[in-house]
Parts: sequence; structure tokens; C-alpha cells
Amino acid sequence: MNLLDRPRRLRATPVLREMCAETQVRADHLITPHFVVPGKGIREEIPSMPGIHHVSVDKLIPEIEADLELGLSSHLLFGVPEHKDEHGDSALDDHGAVQESLRAMKKRFGNDIIAITDVCLCAYTSHGHCGFLEDGVVVNDPSVEQLARMALSHAEAGADMVSPSDMMDGRVGAIREQLDEHGFVNTSILAYSAKYASAYYGPFRDACDSAPQGDRKSYQMDPRNGREAILEVLLDLQEGADMVMVKPALAYLDIVRRVREEVLCPVVCYNVSGEFSMVKAAAKAGLVDEAAIVRENLLAMRRAGSDLIITYHGRDALEQGWIDR
Ligand code: PBG
Ligand code: ZN
Repeated sequence: MNLLDRPRRLRATPVLREMCAETQVRADHLITPHFVVPGKGIREEIPSMPGIHHVSVDKLIPEIEADLELGLSSHLLFGVPEHKDEHGDSALDDHGAVQESLRAMKKRFGNDIIAITDVCLCAYTSHGHCGFLEDGVVVNDPSVEQLARMALSHAEAGADMVSPSDMMDGRVGAIREQLDEHGFVNTSILAYSAKYASAYYGPFRDACDSAPQGDRKSYQMDPRNGREAILEVLLDLQEGADMVMVKPALAYLDIVRRVREEVLCPVVCYNVSGEFSMVKAAAKAGLVDEAAIVRENLLAMRRAGSDLIITYHGRDALEQGWIDR
């Protein structure tokens, strides 16, 4: 054949392929979630999320130390409280699991780590909604005030970054204002901007015992909508978000790409619990090669335009050498 272009030339050897690789995933692209609980000596595997644990503060510190050795320095905390009530008031407890964890992490690791906290009420409310429930309706403005108080409580305990995941309108601006008023001008906001009402959060809701009465469709986004993601992202940036997020990741890579082309700040995607547990289950059943699948999924998220990926696969991926440090 008389071919001028032979793209296979550049695929011929591993070194050539390495030379021509457009996309990389490294440890510093990853953010590692932790589920922290009150108490001592607790490290219990979450049944729906193999290899992921509920940990008390004393067990969290060695876990983060091991992560740091693997190159994982960004950590996202979710609190699982003992007590839930209508307004999720235990989210404001200065001695809550998240607040205590923040103090212990910052004391031990200082600026070697980035401590990020999930700011949302659903794990703390008795009805499991991300805001206040009044006559069966999740009301916006009173919820925002509570979320701003929660963010402040995290900042006071040492959070480098707060990450509102509730999808109430105006919460980024309210949090920014609250933080600034109290002198936390350098505490960043990573906004869950385009967060969809997704079935992929199932295992997480088991982990946080946060399945809502009804559903979250009156505040999380409709999977049919793409343009609306841009609207949400632009609003969050106007309100002072430092980074924006698309969530979930794999079924929403078109949204990641569109957001990437729209903004200048870092774009984050959340490789959520359902995506994680599906891979784990398929690997366990011998249906797929876990190493190759995880690598391919993470690369796809990066290729779509994510600067950073929140993922439960980080520790395995680095320990087993599925991705480079
Ligand atoms: C809380 C929150 C959720 C997740 C992150 N923050 C669950 C939800 O909105 O129901 C999902 C994370 C995951 O599935 O891994 N608002
Ligand atoms: Zn929530």
C-alpha cells in the first residue's frame, strides 16, 4: 500500500507510546475521601464499599500517614455523626468527628496535607435531606444559613478548603461571606457545582446512613440537562468558588469537557461510590481486570478535562502501581 500517514508508527514500542501519551494520572491529581466517626479505636469496613472504612480520629491519622507515603496529600472528610436531628445541628459541633479530625490532621501534618471537608447536612439530618425540611419541602434560604455556619465551624477547626455538596442556591456566596467576616479569607471553596440526582450515590448513602425521605430531585440536577451545568458553574464562580466540580464522573464526562472549556479555574470530578463499587464487584466476579479498568477510568476523567479527581481507588492504584506516583 502507498500510505503517507501511518499512525501506527508512533504506537510501535512502549517507549514510543510513553513519548506520545497525551494524558497522565498521578497521585497529585487525586483527592482521597475518608468517613470519620466519633469515638476511639474504630476502623470498620463499609459493607457496600470494599476496602473503605469508617474510622475514628485515632485511626484516621495513621491512615493519612500511609496515604502521604503513597503521594496522596489531599484528603476529603465526611462526618458520620452519632446523633441526627431535624436541622442537622450536630454538624456544627466543635467536637464533632470532622472538627476533631481536622485539628488532629493539621497538628500532625500541617501544610504537608490539604484538608478538605464536605459541607452538607444530609448525614446529620433525621430526614436525610441536604437542607431543612418544612412541610415536605426542602427550603433554600434557612438551609444556606446553616450550611454557612457548618463551613465556618470547619474553617475554625483547620480546614484548608470547604466543599459544599448540598446544591442549595446561593450557598457558595453565603459561605464566602461568612468565612471572610470571620477572617478566613484564605480558606478556599471547592463547589460541587454540577451535581446530578444520580443513582450512583447508593453505596455512599449506606456509608453515611443518609438516604433521604423521598429523593433529592428538587435540588440536585436532572441528568437530562447539560447547559444547566454551565449555569450552575458560572453562578458558583460569581459567588466566589475557587474550584468547581462535576459529579458523578463517568456518566458525565461530556459535562466535564464542557465545563473545562468554559472556565479558567481547576475542574474537579467526583468518581463516586457507585462507580467505585461497580468496578470492585465486577473485578471480584472475575469479569474485568481491576488494574486496567481503574487506570482507564481515571485516564478518561483526566482526558475529558478534570484537573483533579476525587476517588476511592487512589490507595489501591498507587499501592499496586496501577498509576504512577
Ligand atoms: C452529600 C454527598 C453525597 C455524595 C457526596 N456528598 C451523597 C448524596 O448527595 O446523596 C456522594 C459521594 C459518593 O457517592 O461517593 N450531599
Ligand atoms: Zn447532602
